[in-house]
Amino acid sequence: MTPWISIIGIGDEGLESLTPIARTLVDGAELLVGGDRHQVFVPATSAQRLTWKDGLEAAMDVMETWRGKRVVVLASGDPMCFGAGANLQRRFLPEEMRVIPVPGALSQACARMLWSQPDVELVTLHGRPVEGFNLYIAPRARLIVLSRDAGTPAEVAGVLRQRGFGPSRLTVLEHMGGEKEARVEGTAEGWTHEKCAALNTIAVECLPGPDAVMRPRVPGLPDDAFVHDGQLTKREVRAVTLTALGPQPGELLWDVGAGCGSIAIEWMRAARGCRAAAIETNPNRCATIAGNAATLGVPGLEVVKGDAPPALAQAPGGPDAVFVGGGVSRDGLLEACWKVLGPGGRLVANAVTIEAERRLLDFHQIHGGDLRRIAISRPKTTGSLTIWEAKAPVTQLAARKP
Ligand SMILES: C[S@@+](CC[C@H](N)C(=O)[O-])C[C@H]1O[C@@H](n2cnc3c(N)ncnc32)[C@H](O)[C@@H]1O
Repeated sequence: MTPWISIIGIGDEGLESLTPIARTLVDGAELLVGGDRHQVFVPATSAQRLTWKDGLEAAMDVMETWRGKRVVVLASGDPMCFGAGANLQRRFLPEEMRVIPVPGALSQACARMLWSQPDVELVTLHGRPVEGFNLYIAPRARLIVLSRDAGTPAEVAGVLRQRGFGPSRLTVLEHMGGEKEARVEGTAEGWTHEKCAALNTIAVECLPGPDAVMRPRVPGLPDDAFVHDGQLTKREVRAVTLTALGPQPGELLWDVGAGCGSIAIEWMRAARGCRAAAIETNPNRCATIAGNAATLGVPGLEVVKGDAPPALAQAPGGPDAVFVGGGVSRDGLLEACWKVLGPGGRLVANAVTIEAERRLLDFHQIHGGDLRRIAISRPKTTGSLTIWEAKAPVTQLAARKP
């Protein structure tokens, strides 16, 4: 099948950014698809026009009716970099489409900043909550941020200030390549530009101030990184639990009896594209989980309010790993979690009470797995002396489905 959909990347300078081949495809289009900003670059031809104004799905439905005709989609920069190409390939077959990119926001911004592309991290806030930016803040990190709108730079500066990274340098690159190209610079702490041009990309060099809050991506954040009511898997136990769960990029975790959500949150922070559902029965804790997820840069964490096992039916299907931190002694809970896992899926469960531990031992007798006991003591000062105070030991079962 010859491709009938051509996805053409276009720069802010308009048609002159196109290669001769891309230009020929645009000139010969029977249906021209794209946002208003891109459509105005193309003078009136016999091609019919279609915009995204009714949503992506609706536009793709219309495109289906043009199957086999010459359909051209205009998208900014590199269509495979958070652009239309990445969305269209979910609906259409590879042999139906061709993509011709021009340098996108990432390469244009790096060219202007003289930053080496492999040394920067690309973050998109386009259609996503600004809280997600928290995940990427680290000393000396260089970030290229795709903006949602004119107010995004001020929001990014606000998040940096909140984290104590006020000295960070922001360079807002407006309309790169176009006639209205401009640059706005400043530090997060001195930021006064409430609005920039709506089309902008932000280059951020993260620099900590004296009170900067460090949040390494390695599991085992300090306990006070989370708002909690005591229902928190403590730092050391959390670190061991995450290593047992072994997050891999793009995997899905169910955190059953999530408390303040610390395991699900650290799972999502650990590897690119990791997703998680926190299943929690207490409504106050559900609100806390969502708040913690936002502050710690993973606002996409799904909170499922309800009692497990029945509530498990509400969670997104096909988890790669399940952690049971609460409710281990509930009838049928461990078995229900084991059942949803596919081959290679991991089940990790922590028990503090004797009743819960008994369930783990019974489960272990049938299904095997690794058992371990984690006993943590922390120093406690009484008067002028300090003793070791033992925390309740945790029994952990980690099993892998054959
Ligand atoms: C949905 S993303 C698409 C990115 C696109 N695929 C690319 O590679 O440039 C849209 C974001 O890209 C950035 N962007 C695209 N073109 C730009 C330009 N000419 N100048 C500044 N930013 C641009 C803006 O941050 C905008 O919000």
